[in-house]
Amino acid sequence: MFTLRGVTKRFKAGEVALDGIDLEIRPGERVAFIGPSGAGKTTLFRVLNCTLKPTDGEFRIDGEDVAGLRGRRLRETRRKIGTVYQHHNLVGRLRVVHNVLAGRLGTWGALRALQSLVRPAELEAAGAVLARVGILEKLFSRTDDLSGGERQRVAIARLLIQDPSAILADEPVSSVDPSLAEGIVKLLVRLSEEGRKTLAMNLHGVDLAFGHFPRVVGVRQGRILFDRAPEDISPADLEALYPPKMEEARRDFLSFAAVPDSEPIRVSGGHPG
Ligand SMILES: Nc1ncnc2c1ncn2[C@@H]1O[C@H](COP(=O)(O)OP(=O)(O)OP(=O)(O)O)[C@@H](O)[C@H]1O
Ligand SMILES: [Mg+2]
Repeated sequence: MFTLRGVTKRFKAGEVALDGIDLEIRPGERVAFIGPSGAGKTTLFRVLNCTLKPTDGEFRIDGEDVAGLRGRRLRETRRKIGTVYQHHNLVGRLRVVHNVLAGRLGTWGALRALQSLVRPAELEAAGAVLARVGILEKLFSRTDDLSGGERQRVAIARLLIQDPSAILADEPVSSVDPSLAEGIVKLLVRLSEEGRKTLAMNLHGVDLAFGHFPRVVGVRQGRILFDRAPEDISPADLEALYPPKMEEARRDFLSFAAVPDSEPIRVSGGHPG
C-alpha cells in the first residue's frame, strides 16, 4: 500500500523531521508507530496521507509515485486514506449526523454538501456507521454534548463513511480518558480487520502498541530504530528509543540557549544596579 525509499522531510527552519525513511506497508497490514515527542511520527503520517510533500526520496501509494500526481488523480489518491487525529476535528455546534456525513465531502460537490446540512442525505448510511462504532442513539445529538470518547467514535464513523483503503490514526486516544483508550484502539483494529483496511497508528502507550499490533516501528530523530514484531523488541530497544529524562532536559535547554534573539532572562527580586 505504502512504499517509502529514503524519504526525508526538512522544514524551513532547517530542522530534519524525517531522515531517510525506508518503509513498506502492505495492504491490510496493521502497524503501530512509537517514539518520543518530536521523533517525526506526525510528519510521517502527513507524508502518508499526502498533505505534506517529502523534501527528498520516493513515496508510492499502491505503486503510484505520489510526487507525479496532480489535481483529480491526487484527490482520488488522498481519498483512499482516512486519518483520525488526536483532536477529532469535528464541528461542535453541528449534529452528529452532519459531522459523520462530512466524510463524504471528498466525493460530493459543494451544493450537495450544503443541501445535506438542511436535510441529511444518506441518513441511513450515517446511521449504519454510527451503529458500527456503537453510538447510533447519538445520531441527532449536538456534537458538543458528547463525551471525549463518543466524539472520537464520531470521528471514526466519519472516516468509515469515507470508506478509505487505509486508516491512519495519529494518537487517537491521547485526549480520551485512559479507561476508554483501549476500547477505541480495539474498535479501530476490529474495523480495519472487517473492512480489510490497512491500519497505521501513532501511539504514546507502548502497552497499547504491543497488545494490539503484530508489527511495531520505533521512530527516533526522524529515523526508524526498529521495525519488528513486539515479541522481538527488547527492553534495550525501548531504552534506545526513549532517551532518559535528563538527556531530554539537557537537549531542550541547549536548543533554548541556542535561540539567538531570545529575551535575556530576568530574575525578579534582585538588587537594582
Ligand atoms: N510545520 C512544521 N514546521 C517546522 N517544524 C516542524 C513542523 N512540523 C513538525 N516540525 C518539527 O519536526 C519534528 C517532528 O515533529 P512531529 O510532530 O512529526 O513529531 P511527533 O513524533 O509526532 O511528536 P509528538 O509525539 O509530540 O506528537 C519536531 O522537531 C517538530 O518541531
Ligand atoms: Mg505527533
